[in-house]
Amino acid sequence: AGPCDLYATGGTPCIAAHSTTRALYSSYTGPLYQVKRGSDNTTTNIAPLSAGGVAEAAAQDSFCASTTCLITIIYDQSGHGNHLTQASAGAFSGPESNGADNLASATGAPVTLNGQKAYGVFIPPGAGYSNNAASGTATGDAAEGMYSVLDGTHYNAECCFDYGNAEVSSHDTGNGHMEAIYFGTNTIWGTGSGSGPWIMADLENGLFSGASTGNNPDDASISSRFVTAAVKGGPNKWAIRGANAVSGALSTYYNGTRPNASGYNPMSKEGAIILGIGGDNSPNAQGTFYEGVMTTGYPSDATENSVQANIVAAKYAVTSLTSGPALTVGSSISLRATTAGYTTRYLAHTGSTVNTQVVSSSSTTALKQQASWTVRTGLGNSACFSFESKDTAGSYIRHSAFQLLLNANDGTKAFYEDATFCPQTGLNGQGNSIRSWNYPTRYFRHFNNVAFVASNGGVDAFDATASFNDDVSWVLSTGFA
Ligand code: AHR
Repeated sequence: AGPCDLYATGGTPCIAAHSTTRALYSSYTGPLYQVKRGSDNTTTNIAPLSAGGVAEAAAQDSFCASTTCLITIIYDQSGHGNHLTQASAGAFSGPESNGADNLASATGAPVTLNGQKAYGVFIPPGAGYSNNAASGTATGDAAEGMYSVLDGTHYNAECCFDYGNAEVSSHDTGNGHMEAIYFGTNTIWGTGSGSGPWIMADLENGLFSGASTGNNPDDASISSRFVTAAVKGGPNKWAIRGANAVSGALSTYYNGTRPNASGYNPMSKEGAIILGIGGDNSPNAQGTFYEGVMTTGYPSDATENSVQANIVAAKYAVTSLTSGPALTVGSSISLRATTAGYTTRYLAHTGSTVNTQVVSSSSTTALKQQASWTVRTGLGNSACFSFESKDTAGSYIRHSAFQLLLNANDGTKAFYEDATFCPQTGLNGQGNSIRSWNYPTRYFRHFNNVAFVASNGGVDAFDATASFNDDVSWVLSTGFA
């Protein structure tokens, strides 16, 4: 059985079932998600390998070979047509030129399920999905349940990495107009024990970790690599439950009455569905989504417990975040541009500006050092890498406003993540393309001889699609210094 078979057996069937990694019904054979590739803007659907099975990641890999791919649709498997697509501007605008949010890279969150490769939805700040015309979702004070499987190591403190029920207008229409799972370290409204991240319920104008706003010590920090997060709500009752998604049972972090503040009892749920954003399209949070559902009716704890057992049996596991020529931690490297006319230029720095400069064996020692980088274990994710300056110890390549800078490591989570990069097989077939860990649509790119993390199309000049594959492919060699 799949999770939605279990919810149906429990009398609380799924009315939305989203996953890029696997079918959530044992009989489901339809599409899981759609990807769009950068080379020609065409799309393809990715389906399970077999009924009820894991997504056919190899179909994505072959469709997206030598180019970039975005996740354009996350299909609803429940038959209600509640597909998730690129979120439009709401009270807050996303980064796209029309105020829409970004789409997620199709390759930012590789995993395995029972040993088979699949991809989750890695959502950086600015990305988000929604369906503002969903059908069958809870409205008003009607009961519903939901769970999602998330990456417990990918979060931030911004509003709001959510999955669940929200406003149909993408505007804040008042307390009680949302009921969604939140995951992260936002402390504006509620907190749990420890330093987070926490599972909370986004009920609009408040992330609730328990009966009221503020600290609720029963809401535990949960940071296992894979997290099961569950929220359910009905007339004057709601609950938060959570677990490690690869072992053990759900813990109940809250189970009680609605918040004692106007608007939350009864609720005024509107029935839209959001992923990765707040109800007003607040787009600055980050997180990773692998699968999730919404039900009609208030699922029993027993039903949720059987769903958790099903998730554990799916055996989520990590897999490599890198491909192409291997990098060795501790070695010194230089990175040569491969764009025709620029192939004598190497990634270098002038002060804090990261650029490309013409370097050769007869260059000065100073220039050789400016163009040499010590490979370090990724500061933000040990499966990837960071690049420390050869001539300025303690300073690393990081992106800021999507330009590459050489900055001193300030020890913050944001610095670590901005300084972490996952090399891939070079998009033009040469060397490596160096992908940003926290913005997986973006790669090291030289543009007018200055270095950026660029996406293949976007609002900035350095995102130009022309020459993208060449500009983001670098041949790595032993460092000049
Ligand atoms: O409830 C927290 C957030 O507040 C909601 O997601 C958003 O709509 C509002 O900014």
